[in-house]
Amino acid sequence: MKKYNIAIVGATGMVGRKFLEVLEERQLPALNYYLFASARSAGKRVKFMGKEHIINELTETCFDDKEIDIALFSAGASVSRKYAPIAASKGIVVIDNSSAWRMDGEVPLVVPEVNPADILKHKGIIANPNCSTIQAVVALNPLHRHYRIKRIVYSTYQAVSGAGLNGYMDLKNGIEGNNTLLKFPHPIFANCIPHIDDFLDNGYTKEEMKMIQETQKIIGDYSIRITATTVRVPVFHGHSESINVEFEKDFDLNELKDILANSPGIVVVDDPKNNKYPMPLYAENKDEVFVGRIRRDESVPSGVNLWVVSDNVRKGAATNTVQIAQKLIDYWENGQLDR
Ligand code: A2P
Repeated sequence: MKKYNIAIVGATGMVGRKFLEVLEERQLPALNYYLFASARSAGKRVKFMGKEHIINELTETCFDDKEIDIALFSAGASVSRKYAPIAASKGIVVIDNSSAWRMDGEVPLVVPEVNPADILKHKGIIANPNCSTIQAVVALNPLHRHYRIKRIVYSTYQAVSGAGLNGYMDLKNGIEGNNTLLKFPHPIFANCIPHIDDFLDNGYTKEEMKMIQETQKIIGDYSIRITATTVRVPVFHGHSESINVEFEKDFDLNELKDILANSPGIVVVDDPKNNKYPMPLYAENKDEVFVGRIRRDESVPSGVNLWVVSDNVRKGAATNTVQIAQKLIDYWENGQLDR
């Protein structure tokens, strides 16, 4: 098997550091890794794959003469908007974790359990979806294939780690009695904030609109009607989601549970009599999407309620990005895509 040169852009950030962890676990066929961040971090040393790597400054020429095949980006949308096209113009395939390219018609938006073949259509940039959307579509896509989803109501309970290091610090400081806020507009300790990302003219937040639009794009069905309310809660790791779904076809509840249990990337935890249901505390550092509280919505002819939990920094970001890289390499190796 050929070996590939892989770059990590934003290697010092919360997701970037998780990239390194997941890459160490998964052992891609890599020849060299190149780590990039801002000028602030240039020259810092990071232990990775058993050796010291030096952080390079991201510049317009930093990819030259390195023969990089894949670049995993997680340095924010403005960095991606500027540097992803520069990398792509040098023949690098960018897998971008920011929101910059997700809704671009030329850019595949990929969850490997759902739409891996969209990778085949890439033109140099592949987007990693929003963390809340990834875990939702892993659970919903197999049900859509069987029963056709008509409508989805999302309500989320999202961890502070989804807001980066400053969000994490707001909860940690609050627990320690320090009310200085670095990220959120209100204290998050002992609170819930129904406000993630900016508000738009329609009264929704950008996070809510991301969930609506990205779900349709990934599942490949723009006729599904979707609404969402996204809420930040005082949890460090792991997003939880209450998902109400209405189907076109009727379903048998046991069959629906079996479909979920047999679908890739899902673990069903649904034994309420024994207090067993998914919770963020137990999803931390796992790659799966946990689904429980599976019950009929008795207010409509064919509906179900699900409780879906996953580690937002792993499956919601780093793991999904690395899985896309693995799938891309598979396509190169089996000749479905030219390198
Ligand atoms: P740095 O640590 O040098 O600031 P987080 O999402 O946790 O805030 O991390 C953001 C990541 O993106 C960090 O690795 C950060 O590097 C990197 N980054 C931010 N701005 C830039 C920039 N202008 N050029 C390159 N990397 C950047």
